[in-house]
Amino acid sequence: MSHSLLLLPLLACLFAVSSLAHESTSGLHPVVLVPAYSCGNLDARLTDKYRPPAAFPWCAARKGKGWFRLWENHTAVELDPKQVPCYAGQLRLVYDHVAGDYRNAPGVQTRVVAFGSVRGFGSDDPAKKNMCMEKLVKTLDGVGYRDGESLFGAPYDLRYAAAAAPGQASRAFSKFTSSLARLVEHASSRNGGKPVILVSHSLGGLNVNEFLNQRPLPWRKKFVNHFVMLSTGVGGGTVVLQFLASAIGSLPPPSDVLSFTNTSRSFASTLGALPSPKAYGHTPLVVTRAKNFSAYDMPEFLAAVGFSGRDVLARYVMRALPVTLNFKAPLVPMTSVTGVGVPTASKLVFWDGDFGAQPQVVYGDGDGTVNVENVLALGTVVGKDPEQPFFRSVIVPNTTHMGIISDDWALKHVVSEILEASRATHHYSNI
Ligand SMILES: *[C@@H]1O[C@H](CO)[C@@H](O)[C@H](O)[C@H]1NC(C)=O
Ligand SMILES: *[C@@H]1O[C@H](CO)[C@@H](O)[C@H](O)[C@H]1NC(C)=O
Ligand SMILES: *[C@@H]1O[C@H](CO)[C@@H](O)[C@H](O)[C@H]1NC(C)=O
Ligand SMILES: *[C@@H]1O[C@H](CO)[C@@H](O)[C@H](O)[C@H]1NC(C)=O
Repeated sequence: MSHSLLLLPLLACLFAVSSLAHESTSGLHPVVLVPAYSCGNLDARLTDKYRPPAAFPWCAARKGKGWFRLWENHTAVELDPKQVPCYAGQLRLVYDHVAGDYRNAPGVQTRVVAFGSVRGFGSDDPAKKNMCMEKLVKTLDGVGYRDGESLFGAPYDLRYAAAAAPGQASRAFSKFTSSLARLVEHASSRNGGKPVILVSHSLGGLNVNEFLNQRPLPWRKKFVNHFVMLSTGVGGGTVVLQFLASAIGSLPPPSDVLSFTNTSRSFASTLGALPSPKAYGHTPLVVTRAKNFSAYDMPEFLAAVGFSGRDVLARYVMRALPVTLNFKAPLVPMTSVTGVGVPTASKLVFWDGDFGAQPQVVYGDGDGTVNVENVLALGTVVGKDPEQPFFRSVIVPNTTHMGIISDDWALKHVVSEILEASRATHHYSNI
């Protein structure tokens, strides 16, 4: 067992990646990439059951006309802003009380695009270039990894959370985990039976960690060499609180489908990304004169920012929170890599209790999105688990949430970690 917190000095490099550029991948383990929230693309088709909102009858134009790119299609909404409420409405989830699960809005069918390939994720929005591991793919290509041979991608539907509490259905996540299990097995068998390195970014990390915990331990030992988790803590973050509060009273910007309150608030992933008591404890995250909200007070916070209906609050408590609290060591060798040194919202002050107003933001340390405390909590939750075979936390200074997969300097560290994991096959030997 070995845990260490490695603070990398600014110019230190574990390896000079360039010197490895000519090494063939024959000795390396296959890599499966699991990208961030919003990276997985979705195709949709509208069936006879689809009814457009009364105010937007043109939304029915695609009815019966086959598959089209619903997410992400920045091009479509940019070219024709009339389409924005159509895409936003078609992307909504509804909760089916009979099935006890989320599903698409009536008349909308969806599928994740190109599961298995690293070409299946990314954004067509020029402003989001390199947010979905594009540069990491390029860098891995530079050291010999090839899509479909030694490099694979596992995009997922951004709207769904990593699992649901025991006893509750989560068909979308179950489908993702069985596809991912088959992909990992395929990647391994295509590479001489070598176990796989799973590399996640941001929210993808919660999905991978939950996936691993659901697989039988012998399966994990046989097929998973290492889990490299980038920019993720033990659960959620304050960034979601700011997003939910700021949605009140503001009109959606014309081209941002996810800024439609009705859309993003309908996602299971929104409830799944609320700050975890495991990371934040009783620290006040939202401060008003009358009341403070810690990670334990999320039902009250949701009500305060206008989530209506008892059932959505109950769904958070009964369905989402148990999954968040169940975050635990994956019991495969794991390396966490994260940026720090970037001001990161740690507390939102709405002193007068007016959540529609701009909050006064108190900043702490982190990568601009994830608070450093959240990532450091991995050292306890994963590193101190006596059954965890190997855990290391790598802190990359002055690096943002996106910088970790797009700044050349940070990428070198990430690829070094992947290559090092690829070499170190001894990690299970001492347990
Ligand atoms: C987005 O939608 C437009 C207009 O319907 C379509 O031409 C384009 O191919 C779509 N983008 C993708 C990536 O499918
Ligand atoms: C949002 O949902 C509410 C209730 O479901 C509905 O009344 C309202 O029209 C919706 N707004 C938009 C922009 O779709
Ligand atoms: C809220 O938390 C702050 C510390 O951030 C504390 O000073 C204040 O007394 C708390 N207010 C209430 C109403 O508990
Ligand atoms: C981070 O960047 C700032 C400004 O660019 C610089 O002043 C500081 O020394 C850097 N810190 C580290 C640890 O690299």
